[in-house]
This record gives sequence, C-alpha cells and structure tokens, in this order.
Amino acid sequence: MSLKGSNILITGASMGIGEAIAHAVAVEGANLILFARSEDKLQAITQTLKTKYPASKVIYHPVDLQNYEAVETAVDASVKELDHINVLINNAGLALGAPSPFPSLQIRDIVTMNATNINGLMFTTYAVLNASMKPRKAGTILNVTSITGLEVPPFPGEAVYHCNKAAQEAFSNALRNELSETNIRVLVLRPGVVATNFHQQRVGYDEALYVGFMEGYRPLEAQDVARSAIFMLQQPLDVSIKALDVVPSAQRSINVFDRTWNDRNA
Ligand SMILES: NC(=O)c1ccc[n+]([C@@H]2O[C@H](COP(=O)([O-])OP(=O)(O)OC[C@H]3O[C@@H](n4cnc5c(N)ncnc54)[C@H](OP(=O)(O)O)[C@@H]3O)[C@@H](O)[C@H]2O)c1
Repeated sequence: MSLKGSNILITGASMGIGEAIAHAVAVEGANLILFARSEDKLQAITQTLKTKYPASKVIYHPVDLQNYEAVETAVDASVKELDHINVLINNAGLALGAPSPFPSLQIRDIVTMNATNINGLMFTTYAVLNASMKPRKAGTILNVTSITGLEVPPFPGEAVYHCNKAAQEAFSNALRNELSETNIRVLVLRPGVVATNFHQQRVGYDEALYVGFMEGYRPLEAQDVARSAIFMLQQPLDVSIKALDVVPSAQRSINVFDRTWNDRNA
C-alpha cells in the first residue's frame, strides 16, 4: 500500500525511533503529524522535513501524552488541519530507574512510566479512533512495543517497563478484535536493543552502565527500526503483519547477547 499522501501521526517524534520513522515515511511521500513534549526539537525536525521533502505537509503539536485533554485537543487540531489520520504510530515511551529492582524505584518514576507507556498510548489511540478512524472505518495503528513485552529480561530494573510493554501487547490484541468489521488494522513492532536516548535515560544517564550494556555487539540504529515500520505499513490492506521482532543479530534472545559479535564483525 503506498504511503504517498497518507496522513501519519507519530508520537515520540522528537528523537530516536520516532524521528527516524518520520524521515522514512516522508521519503515515501506521506504527510506528518508529530507529537512529543519538546517543542524546540519538534520545530527543528519539522523544518528539516519540510526542506527535504517539500511535497509533504508536516505539522507538529507539543503534547504530554499523560494528559488526556491535551492529547484530545492536539488530535482534534490535527484532524482540522489535515482532514483525517490514516496511520497512527504509537511510539512514545520510556523506561526509568534501572537497574533498581521494583521496591527501590521512585514512585514518581513508576507513575511516569505507567502514565506514558499505558495511558499515553491508550489516550492517543482513543482520540484518533474517535476523531478520525472510527467514522471512516479505516486506518492503521502501529504500536511500537518491545521484545520485552513477551518475556522478562534477565537484568533488574524492568518490572514496570516489562509490565507496560506486556500491557501494550494485550491492548493491541484486544483492539484488533474489537475493530473487526472495519478496515482498521492493529500491528505491533517489537524492537530489541536500539542505540537511542532510551537506553541512556533508562540507567539515569550513567555512562558506565550504558557502555557495559552495549559492550561487544552492535545495537540497532533507529533507522533499522524505521525500515521495519515502512515494510509493515506498505503491505496491502488485506495483509497485516500483526507483529514483527527486529533485533540486533547479536541479541539471540532476550537472555542471550553475543558479546563476541564485534570481535568477528568489527
Ligand atoms: N531503544 C530501545 O532499545 C527500544 C527497544 C524496544 C522498544 N523501544 C520503544 O521504542 C519507543 C521509542 O523509543 P526510543 O528508543 O526512540 O527512545 P527515545 O529516543 O528516548 O525517544 C522517546 C520519545 O518519546 C517521547 N516521549 C516520552 N515521554 C513522553 C510524553 N509524556 N509525552 C509525549 N512524548 C513523550 C520523547 O519526546 P519528549 O521527551 O520530547 O516528550 C521522545 O520523542 C518507546 O516506546 C520504547 O519503549 C525502544
């Protein structure tokens, strides 16, 4: 399915995977609606996209997804500006407090993770479904979950994040069923380790912890995930890649990292 002329809303578009997907869909001729909190970053990315892809319309709304009223206002404004939303990419998300085990986490970090990863995804989906996709009975919802959504990772500090990603997986499966008798597809894209701000923030920007985690192998780049998203979105309407795992080749499973990878492949 061509993305040319499609209106695509991406959450968490101010950096990392969301920013990379924005570039990848703009190459395909899509129009973009960018959501994140950092207005300065959104403004700069919008400017770059408009310059590189003058045929694409690009708008942005600084919004904290934890706040439903703000999400609804931003979605309604986007529909007013571009008429409808063809694709929603629920990508915003974060992990905080690693490597602390659950009882040592800060309560405010638990609240932020739940409110962003669960409420934020549901709020955006709810607003987009009601403002555009349900009346048109058409659209694609692509949720960027994680391989962590299926299995608990072997390292500490993941209790809340793992639970959030498992919730996103369950929500996606239930929503796909509920949206039967419409042309709305629900897909999940599960990255393994990607070198973005995410992993630095996860360990509180502790350089030694970050470097230790990435040691010996090449993590994915955000562009690798964006290519996977494009592959899923370009399938014909009657084909759903319901779920796709994209991982570094060295990440053999959630438990096994091949830390000799770089010795062979540097
Ligand atoms: N990196 C990985 O290894 C990895 C692996 C598996 C899954 N994932 C998932 O991939 C997605 C993107 O992660 P990433 O690696 O690209 O991380 P990132 O570089 O840290 O980007 C996260 C994005 O989410 C936005 N965001 C965070 N809280 C928000 C809020 N309350 N309201 C609105 N936007 C918010 C951030 O923008 P602002 O700060 O400007 O709001 C940013 O644009 C996440 O769902 C993550 O769980 C990542």
